[in-house]
Amino acid sequence: QGQEMWGGRFAAKPDQIMEAINASIDVDQRMAEEDIAGSKAHVRMLADRGIVTEADRDAILGGLDAVIEEIRKGDFPFRKDLEDIHMNVEARLKELIGEPAGRLHTGRSRNDQVATDFRLWVREALKTRADQAEALMRALIDQADLHAETVMPGFTHLQTAQPVTFGHHLMAYVEMFSRDKSRFQDALVRMNESPLGAAALAGTGFPIDREQTAEALDFFAPMANSLDAVSARDFAVEAVSACSICAMHLSRLAEEIVIWASAQFHFVRLSDAWSTGSSIMPQKRNPDAAELVRAKTGRIYGALQALLTVLKGLPLAYSKDMQEDKELTFLAFDALDLCLASMTGMVSSWTVDKDAMRAAAAHGFSTATDLADYLVRELGLPFREAHHVTGATVKLAEDKGCDLADLSLEELQSVEPRLTDAVYSVLTVEASVNSRTSYGGTAPARVREQISRWKELLE
Ligand code: ARG
Repeated sequence: QGQEMWGGRFAAKPDQIMEAINASIDVDQRMAEEDIAGSKAHVRMLADRGIVTEADRDAILGGLDAVIEEIRKGDFPFRKDLEDIHMNVEARLKELIGEPAGRLHTGRSRNDQVATDFRLWVREALKTRADQAEALMRALIDQADLHAETVMPGFTHLQTAQPVTFGHHLMAYVEMFSRDKSRFQDALVRMNESPLGAAALAGTGFPIDREQTAEALDFFAPMANSLDAVSARDFAVEAVSACSICAMHLSRLAEEIVIWASAQFHFVRLSDAWSTGSSIMPQKRNPDAAELVRAKTGRIYGALQALLTVLKGLPLAYSKDMQEDKELTFLAFDALDLCLASMTGMVSSWTVDKDAMRAAAAHGFSTATDLADYLVRELGLPFREAHHVTGATVKLAEDKGCDLADLSLEELQSVEPRLTDAVYSVLTVEASVNSRTSYGGTAPARVREQISRWKELLE
């Protein structure tokens, strides 16, 4: 029966499998609101330009309202044989209002229709993800505020490097998620042009007003080239790449949470709401949500790769290949939705074990660089030589099985005779972080600066 839309020249019905591979209604019914909004803007414009009568316009607008009501209530009879959301809506409109329904599609094609619906959907999704990224930033900033002075080990190669503060570490993620947020916003600006009125590919001979429909749908302008309007999907690729980059950041934080929540690190404890138990090992508090954030990044990257591959090599203008773009894009946005929300939940409800962090920060000779810097500053050694002397001091502590600060002055002087008691002031982790006062550094005063700056920016 779907043929009622295009079957004029066909004698036989499509094969069942043909119908199955062709139908997209299970996926694109999510664009019902956008489809109706696009149709309303279109028919209003048609009436304003005298292409349909005002009576037909009113009948169509009333019918579209009835259709969207049915869809919202969940009692719309979606039909696979009608392929997609566009034909489902139009067929139902015809059942409800009869003949005028057939005039809605004047000067329009499903090609510009689907491009319009899809842009509207992605535009909304980009806005929401930008808001969610901001919510996560706020949660991280709140935690950073509590922990601007909490000392933890900073790592490179996941080997103890230099002490940093936990607040500083969290603010690093705030920077990353702020760029993700702005990527969503930038993508939105570039994609916010209207394909509606491009018709099948060449434009139309009807005296339509593309400016009017663009404005009605809150697009900045009509797209300038009708072939581009129905062929372009780079907006979806760009949106899903922004999702992928954000997912990559989330996955790095998720990995850190998995490590921090382990019994060996014990830096954070996820709240009960964000932990799961084991059916066999009663002691377990598993960070499943963090692991799933880490894992879902895979499907988001997968969607990006699939989308790029579907589009490569497509000649202008529309090809049915493009029907696959929605499922991939929805999948990426849905996964990111869950990931952002879960991360915000975990971060805002975890408990931080400051003592475990501090103890870990003191291990692994984390203040070795401070000793080397001290030798440069106080004794005038060239940095390379200071590095060497410090290396020998670390070796001594390692052989004794103690930390740098536990070495006696005699022991320190056995490596560098000119050392005095004053050296101990640089060997503590607090002294180390307090000394990192360069712009953007980990000194608590600098971290507070970052926090205030972001609080102001987000006001
Ligand atoms: N369901 C189709 C899609 O998502 C709509 C456009 C169909 N256009 C066409 N010429 N068959 O791409």
